[in-house]
Amino acid sequence: MVTMKTNATEPPTRTHIKGSRSHSLHDNQHHHNRDHHIHPETTILVVLVPIVIVILLLAISLVVAFLRRAKSPKPNGTAANGNKSCMFNAHSIISFNGTTDMKRCIYGGRPPSATSKGIQVFTYKELQSATDNFNQTNLVTKGGFGYVYRGLLRDGTPSVIKMLHREGKQGERAFRSEVDLLSRLHCPYLVDLLGYCADNQHKLLVFEYMPNGTLYDRLHPCDGRPQLLSWGIRMRIALDCARALEFLHEHTTPSVIHRDFKSTNILLNENFRGKVSDFGLAKIGSYKLNGMISTRVLGTTGYLAPEYASTGKLTTKSDVYSYGVVLLELLTGRVPIDTNRPPGEHVLVSWALPRLTNRAAVVEMVDPNLHGQFSRKDLIQVAAIAAMCVQSAADYRPLMTDVVQSLIPIVHSISFGCSTSSFRFSKRISPRS
Ligand SMILES: Nc1ncnc2c1ncn2[C@@H]1O[C@H](COP(=O)(O)OP(=O)(O)OP(=O)(O)O)[C@@H](O)[C@H]1O
Ligand SMILES: [Mg+2]
Repeated sequence: MVTMKTNATEPPTRTHIKGSRSHSLHDNQHHHNRDHHIHPETTILVVLVPIVIVILLLAISLVVAFLRRAKSPKPNGTAANGNKSCMFNAHSIISFNGTTDMKRCIYGGRPPSATSKGIQVFTYKELQSATDNFNQTNLVTKGGFGYVYRGLLRDGTPSVIKMLHREGKQGERAFRSEVDLLSRLHCPYLVDLLGYCADNQHKLLVFEYMPNGTLYDRLHPCDGRPQLLSWGIRMRIALDCARALEFLHEHTTPSVIHRDFKSTNILLNENFRGKVSDFGLAKIGSYKLNGMISTRVLGTTGYLAPEYASTGKLTTKSDVYSYGVVLLELLTGRVPIDTNRPPGEHVLVSWALPRLTNRAAVVEMVDPNLHGQFSRKDLIQVAAIAAMCVQSAADYRPLMTDVVQSLIPIVHSISFGCSTSSFRFSKRISPRS
């Protein structure tokens, strides 16, 4: 059958067959003329039957191929028709745990929507006019990447524009990492990269504007402003961030390790929903020991997993540790390292760890700004999650999927008021809990 198909489709072979066929007809003619044994109908049949068989076989194989294609699962979104040089693909959608939000996380393309624009390439001039020529009044601060400006894009979109200040390879690498990863990672729990500018020596990143700033600033206000984040909102932020890391670790192939997960890299939108930012240090890796990568230790003191800090061996479990530290910040309102506290309380993890599994002590360690407005049952559960995340044995730290699954019922059982500052914690029976 294969030979017949090949012969029927390959022009040189076909020519050859034609030639030999006419030759054989010619011979047959002679033979016929000589012996008068074969009728012309027989000759026609001899020629036609193989042709019909070939056509039939071709038709059958086409139908089979079509049916197979129709049965096989469709590749994910744009990964099917997208860029072949793309390093990553989304895991199959079945691994998402049913929430529509998570299903919207698509690595390699976002579902079509009215707001979907993709990453834009800006000229330096465009960003100059978006920031009023990088006016001091639009300067937010100087962060680790460089100067951060508020900007208004030409279409009226408020944005944050980060101008790379670091010289040398490290800054360049951070810029490339942000662009490479964020142009392919699309998830509602990650701060959107709207675009970038790479005009000669100018390197700028343009992000969606997050009006409520960083989680760090909200939890540890330096100007002594009253605490704004209620227990319910803290738990929802904890879940948002857990989902972001779950997406990076478990719903992308290969996994992405954020490597700088901390409360200054968690930004809050107008509804105080958390989104993770800053992929300048991100690495491709795995949670398995045999999938770990050795790298230079980068990140922020107080958030670094001990095995990573001491050996440079990086896995997704290093992010899980950092996540545990942020969870402790949310529970206690303390910063990860505070040398102003009494001896023994400088390092948040060391101070909190023995208390987390002690029911009486755990209540005492809760942020006093919460004024006791939290559920004890939920607190004990969240403390247990934090304890698992910050344990020194990386292998025993949970997967982010486990963290997400543990937090979902807690968040679903909380009723959220409209106002964030005057939010009063209350519980209701949730149909899903
Ligand atoms: N998308 C954004 N929307 C609103 N404010 C932002 C946004 N991105 C950054 N900022 C503000 O800019 C500040 C600096 O951010 P940047 O990421 O450059 O540095 P950092 O997070 O403080 O430090 P690091 O470099 O260690 O991450 C943040 O603390 C925040 O106040
Ligand atoms: Mg940052």
